[in-house]
Amino acid sequence: MSTLLEVSGVSVSFDGFRAISNLSFRIAKTELRAVIGPNGAGKTTFMDIVTGKTRADEGRISWGDEGTSLRGLSEARIARMGIGRKFQKPTVFEDQTVQENLLMALKNKRGVFGVLFYRPSDRDLDRVAEWAGEIGLADHLLRKSGELSHGQKQWLEIGMLLAQDPRLLLIDEPAAGMTPQEREKTTDILVKAARTRAVVVVEHDMDFVRRLNCKVTVLHEGSVLAEGSLDHVTANQAVVDVYLGR
Ligand SMILES: Nc1ncnc2c1ncn2[C@@H]1O[C@H](COP(=O)(O)OP(=O)(O)OP(=O)(O)O)[C@@H](O)[C@H]1O
Ligand SMILES: [Mg+2]
Repeated sequence: MSTLLEVSGVSVSFDGFRAISNLSFRIAKTELRAVIGPNGAGKTTFMDIVTGKTRADEGRISWGDEGTSLRGLSEARIARMGIGRKFQKPTVFEDQTVQENLLMALKNKRGVFGVLFYRPSDRDLDRVAEWAGEIGLADHLLRKSGELSHGQKQWLEIGMLLAQDPRLLLIDEPAAGMTPQEREKTTDILVKAARTRAVVVVEHDMDFVRRLNCKVTVLHEGSVLAEGSLDHVTANQAVVDVYLGR
């Protein structure tokens, strides 16, 4: 497997509490990975460390073919290296249309000059229409984003992240608050996005994780407890015990 991200021996403590403890794992260049684990297992903190929001106390975080260290880099720098992150709450611009939101994401990718001199070309509009199709919003391009359902807003935000063409996309609990139909559509979007990049999804909903049909990493007390297919990890007694709180 061709590694994109390698975390090895990473630990983080908050006031003496070890939230991440000697954490090690790898993500391949094109891979969909689900991260599960009980509340407080360190799933969100793991994403905070990779994106530079939280600093690791020890360990290595290497990125790309050169194994560039991400430790100590700013959040902005890490984002520019191709790591996109989606938080739980959608942060789309509600007064702007779906099309405008996606154009804005495209514009961001072009940097400061792009923002100053930006006029959408026919080509940009075509690309935006194509992305809208991929996130199930082709028929909603001219609607104000504030009018979309919660699930549609989540898709729009995923589309805005994809418009920036990240090599790694980190997504925390996308299924929360979605209807069953929206969840199904979301798995389709993520599976497709992971064909050309790495996508790491933290999720509690096991039906959702099952539909992702990918390798699963189980975190517990800030370390990897088990890894493999969902069937493999859920057959693991240590995983069962952790979920039952034993
Ligand atoms: N900034 C912080 N300061 C202090 N403690 C923190 C901080 N961030 C996380 N923690 C603690 O670290 C532990 C791991 O938290 P984290 O949010 O990563 O868990 P999680 O696996 O995402 O849980 P959940 O499934 O509930 O979202 C928790 O005990 C949490 O209280
Ligand atoms: Mg969390």
